[in-house]
This record gives sequence, C-alpha cells and structure tokens, in this order.
Amino acid sequence: MSDMENLIDGRRIAATIHDETAVRVAQLKDKGITPGLIFIRVGEDPASKVYVGMKERKSQELGIASSTQVLDEQTSQDQLLAIIRQHNADPSIHGILVQAPLPNHIDETVIYSAVDPAKDVDGFHPVNVGKLMLHQPGGFLPCTPAGVHELLIRSNIKLEGAEVVVLGRGNIVGKPMAAILIQKAEHANATVTVCHSRSRDIVEHCRRADVIIAALGVPQFVKADMVKEGAVIMDVGVNRIPDPSAKSGSRLVGDVDFETVQPKAGAITPNPGGVGPMTIAMLMKNTVLAAEQQSR
Ligand code: GUN
Repeated sequence: MSDMENLIDGRRIAATIHDETAVRVAQLKDKGITPGLIFIRVGEDPASKVYVGMKERKSQELGIASSTQVLDEQTSQDQLLAIIRQHNADPSIHGILVQAPLPNHIDETVIYSAVDPAKDVDGFHPVNVGKLMLHQPGGFLPCTPAGVHELLIRSNIKLEGAEVVVLGRGNIVGKPMAAILIQKAEHANATVTVCHSRSRDIVEHCRRADVIIAALGVPQFVKADMVKEGAVIMDVGVNRIPDPSAKSGSRLVGDVDFETVQPKAGAITPNPGGVGPMTIAMLMKNTVLAAEQQSR
C-alpha cells in the first residue's frame, strides 16, 4: 500500500471522544457540578510545558475547570506531598495530574501513591494499577495505553488471538498496555509479547506480529524489514532529533521509521496526529468519570 489509505486518524477519533465527553460535562453541569482538574508541573521541562499546556487548553474547551500549579525545580518531596493532600481534600477538584518526569530528588512512586485513587486521572496509583491487573471495575486506566486501545477498537482492528508485540516496558505505557490487551475481555484476548532493552531477537518477535505498539523511546527504531506485510503499527514515541534543515535545528520523530514502514502496514498511526491526541482524549474522559463517581 503506497497511498495514505492505511492511516489511523487519531485527531478525528479523539474529536469523536471529546464530543462524547462534552455531553457528559453538560449532564454534570445540569446537576450543578463542574468537573475540576488540577495540573502540577515541577520545574521547567520544555516538553512537559507543552503537554500540560495542551491538556489544560482542551479541558477548558470542554468546560472542565482546570488550572496549572507550577512549582520550582527545588520543591521538596514533602512540600509536593503537602500540596497533593490539599487537593485530595478539596471537593471542587475531581482530578489531580502530576506531570512526569519529576526532578531526581523526588520519588515518583511516593508521589503517585499520595494522590487520592478516586482523583487519580492518570491511573498511576497502585490501587488503580492493581484494578487494571485484576480487571476490577471502577478504576482509572493510564491515558496513553487506554488511548492506543481505543484507537485499535475504533479502527476495527481484530485483537482476539492476535500476536501483539509491545516495545517498551515502562510504567506509563508498555506495562499497562500489555495488561489491557491480555485481559479476558471483548476487544482484548491478544497474545502479547513485551520486548525491552534486554530482549534477544526483537526483530524476530516484530516480524511475527499482527500488531506492533512502539513505546520504547528510540527514534525510528521500527524499520520496514521488522514489519510483516499488513501489520498494524501504533507509534507512541515522541523523540527530538537533530535536523540541520529545520529552523529550530531539530524535529520530532516517533519510534517508527514512518516513511519506509507505512507502505507495508495494514494500518499505521501518523506521528504527530496518531496516539498523542488520544492521550488527551482519555485524560478528559477520566476526569469526567472522576467527577461522575465523586458526585454519586
Ligand atoms: N509524562 C508523560 N506522559 C505522562 C502522562 O500520561 N501523565 C503524566 N502525569 N505525566 C506524563
């Protein structure tokens, strides 16, 4: 396939989900409830600034009351914990998002464990991670893997019995992605192989895959010779690489070598415009779910 008919349009699918979320926001407002979301950003990581800015803008478009608390790079772990406890106790705030990465002197595990699980719209609290693993209802799914799953479902990709290779084993994407797809459930039941930096024969695993989900953070790692004809390729990566021809001297690329892989793929996410918009869509959906659950 050489034209662009195999593109999975994440922006279009995200827009559909935002429409669904807007209906739920309106229903909450009819009951006198405005969903509230607080973003906490520690330090001045440029990518985090961009991501939090995009999330805040979209939440405000949807009528979610959101704001960003920017903390100094030197903020101590105890100070951050105290701030999280204040937001946990504030009934006007339904969702709390502490943007990763955090400075090295702060332990992310401690921070994510301090967020009230009922307000954990990131799905990072151990209780929500546990609910995912046990397939228990009422938890929050991490936004990026949930977004990839939703893209697969809404693109009618068959997952039952499919060979899925997840590249990357991080807590934010790889691990929860595998957990979602192995569930004994509709739109899951896949055979999942998780590959990582110590894996042998990654190329061989990829060549067998019906679906490859690339979330390892290596620019253009997935090449055409690693991809079976007709395979579905989901690119989670966001990597900045030097590009002397660009005005800024650099450009963003995914974990997939899109130019060469796209002609071989049955379906593929563009990057940008694939997975990224879905992360935001799932965050908005989680926030509305949090507000609904807290107002019962
Ligand atoms: N950093 C990269 N992805 C994420 C995410 O989904 N949530 C948070 N809080 N930080 C991130």
